[in-house]
Amino acid sequence: MQALSQLSYTPEEPAIVRHDRCGAQVGWRRVLDSIAPAIASRAALPRRREPSSPQLFRTAPMTARILDGAALAKSIRAEVAQRAAALAARDRPAGLAVILVGEDPASSVYVRNKVKDCEESGIRSTLDRMPADTTQAALLARIAALNADPAIHGILVQLPLPPQIDAHAVIEAISPAKDVDGFHVASAGALMTGQPGFRPCTPYGVMKMLEHAGATLRGAEAVVVGRSNIVGKPQAMLLLQADATVTICHSRTRDLAAHTRRADVLVAAVGRTKMITGDMIKPGAIVIDVGMNRDEAGKLCGDVDFDSAREVAGWITPVPGGVGPMTRAMLLVNTIEAAERAAR
Ligand code: GUN
Repeated sequence: MQALSQLSYTPEEPAIVRHDRCGAQVGWRRVLDSIAPAIASRAALPRRREPSSPQLFRTAPMTARILDGAALAKSIRAEVAQRAAALAARDRPAGLAVILVGEDPASSVYVRNKVKDCEESGIRSTLDRMPADTTQAALLARIAALNADPAIHGILVQLPLPPQIDAHAVIEAISPAKDVDGFHVASAGALMTGQPGFRPCTPYGVMKMLEHAGATLRGAEAVVVGRSNIVGKPQAMLLLQADATVTICHSRTRDLAAHTRRADVLVAAVGRTKMITGDMIKPGAIVIDVGMNRDEAGKLCGDVDFDSAREVAGWITPVPGGVGPMTRAMLLVNTIEAAERAAR
């Protein structure tokens, strides 16, 4: 914000004037303009919990509210289940095809969970397990068959893929109408230009969490740490679409903390254990932790140092139980959306 002493009075401004510390006249319009960003950024913040005692509130450290992704995901799954039942009642059940190439243990867990989520929500699913030495041609042939299958509305090829397969070629082979991961360039282009299309599940889930927290994004400072195609970049686009002022930081950003400390909304998606600490956070900010890492003790943790961050932030997502369940829920939302479009 510009200091009052730096503002100059111009004749077209209102006659009502005030004086700055140096005695210079300052038009009210200028004064209001100069404080507007501060007001806007305060408006972006959620209301704090009412203090039980004003005295205690003044002296005790702040403890952020928890943005419970698991609970929100549960309510989203319940809504998806209703939509799935409505489609099934019309004899047009929704179907998701999941493909896993190889036996990566983490990927195996992820795909098992996706299939389980479908089952519980009334979405039909298929799981193709293909051997680690599958050729690109064989995988592309499988995708072509699924593209042509009217019972399948969403296709998800679990990443990463073995080195002999070009992941980009595989993603591009999926019909954009069935691209429930939102990774196809057609989906990315639609997001960039504000056209309808599938949004990648993690950033889409983050937007739902922000909505749930009551965040006013218009005019808010949003900082995304991470520039991946599947989280950082689409996250920035979605925040921009919501009228936030967006900064994308990455591994080459100079003075990362100077950026993160300005953020009303901070999304950490770098994949580095506890790299965002409390001193890097603006008091009252909404902190979204997309990271899914293991600490030295093998414990699941995010990109944010939860203990120090929660003393400063207004809202914070836990790991686990924050963004992860929302990513899974948004895959169901995209799948049901694809099935509904196909049934129209
Ligand atoms: N690997 C890790 N996360 C994802 C995801 O969201 N989609 C796919 N297809 N692969 C992944």
